[in-house]
Amino acid sequence: MKINALLIAVISLSLFACKKNNNTSYEDSSEVVELTSQELAEKGKKTMENKCYLCHNPSSSEKNRVGPPMAAIKARYLQDASTKEEFVNSIWHFVEKPTKDKAKLKGAVKRFGVMPYQKYSQEEIEAIAHFMYEYKIEEPEWFGEHWEKNHGGEYGQKGKEWNAEEQEKDLASIGLEYAKSTKAQLRKNLMGAMQKEGVIHALEFCNVRAMPLTDSMATVHNANIKRVSDRNRNPENKASEKETKYIKSFNKQIKNREEPSPIVEQNGDQTNFYYPIVTNDMCLKCHGEVGKQIEQKTYDKILKFYPEDKAIGYDVNQVRGIWSIEFEEKQ
Ligand code: HEC
Ligand code: HEC
Repeated sequence: MKINALLIAVISLSLFACKKNNNTSYEDSSEVVELTSQELAEKGKKTMENKCYLCHNPSSSEKNRVGPPMAAIKARYLQDASTKEEFVNSIWHFVEKPTKDKAKLKGAVKRFGVMPYQKYSQEEIEAIAHFMYEYKIEEPEWFGEHWEKNHGGEYGQKGKEWNAEEQEKDLASIGLEYAKSTKAQLRKNLMGAMQKEGVIHALEFCNVRAMPLTDSMATVHNANIKRVSDRNRNPENKASEKETKYIKSFNKQIKNREEPSPIVEQNGDQTNFYYPIVTNDMCLKCHGEVGKQIEQKTYDKILKFYPEDKAIGYDVNQVRGIWSIEFEEKQ
């Protein structure tokens, strides 16, 4: 089922029965977000272009250079580093205080002199090194041949392609944006209702399926937002075989205390996005154990609405289900 984004916006506003119980004291506190590998690389790429390309840019001809291209530094440093950590550390080790002794590019030192000292923060240099290690960086056309002539062996730059990744990240962040804002709304409304009038009221009046919309919707045509589960309460929220597979893999990540990364699949203009929904204390009032966190009278009510309910017996920090979001990019 595909719903026009605008339509959902209108419908969800009127369906949100809990809106009238808006309780602002339950706003989600803003989360401290660590940079993902992709975001760190993006930061590194920008910093490198702003602060290092003056002397290390890939486009000057071989004759007019004032320093070696970054690709040469990457290739040389990779020869000595067996892990990413070693690579990143050795770049910082040099840049922190360049000396002739530390320099690995002896030919470059001879031709250009030792790199002049400038103050850089360790954080920015590590971001640059992270980007250099993980991604293919621009290199001059002559470089491959030059390297093979001087160092022997076949040259091929290591790393992922930058552009493809960037594309994927954008789609992932759109999906994540939907999931987060929808979750924040649900949570706020649900908690407000539960606090004011109890769990039963929340059950009766909170239309948890009404999906609020955010500004990020403006960038897409159609979006279909679902919450699905392998142990679903509503028969309509049953996970497909593929979604069940993803739930299992997210479950593993959560158990191992890894930060789950969204799964993004692309098919032409169409994007599918999957992200886990994890339980906290509050959820157990309706998804925990009957007689323990779920009061019997609440459960009787639940069973009346959902006679085939499978969504009980959860503990905190478990994958209750996933967001399964489908959207199209606007042309
Ligand atoms: C003002 C010019 C200049 C700027 C700006 C500059 N470099 Fe350099 N860099 C050089 C020169 C010249 C060399 C080659 C001589 C050498 O190796 O010391 C070099 C060499 C290097 C090397 C290899 C050192 C070796 O031989 O082992 C690294 C690593 C490096 N630069 C990192 C950076 C990073 C990262 C930035 C940006 C944050 C940067 N440089 C900015 C001039 C510059
Ligand atoms: C007040 C009771 C209540 C609370 C509290 C509650 N839920 Fe639910 N939950 C429900 C009901 C009722 C449904 C069925 C909604 C529907 O018909 O789509 C549901 C459905 C779901 C679904 C969709 C899949 C399914 O089983 O149908 C997910 C995922 C989910 N809840 C996660 C959570 C999480 C995570 C929390 C805590 C942050 C939570 N719920 C808190 C009552 C509750």
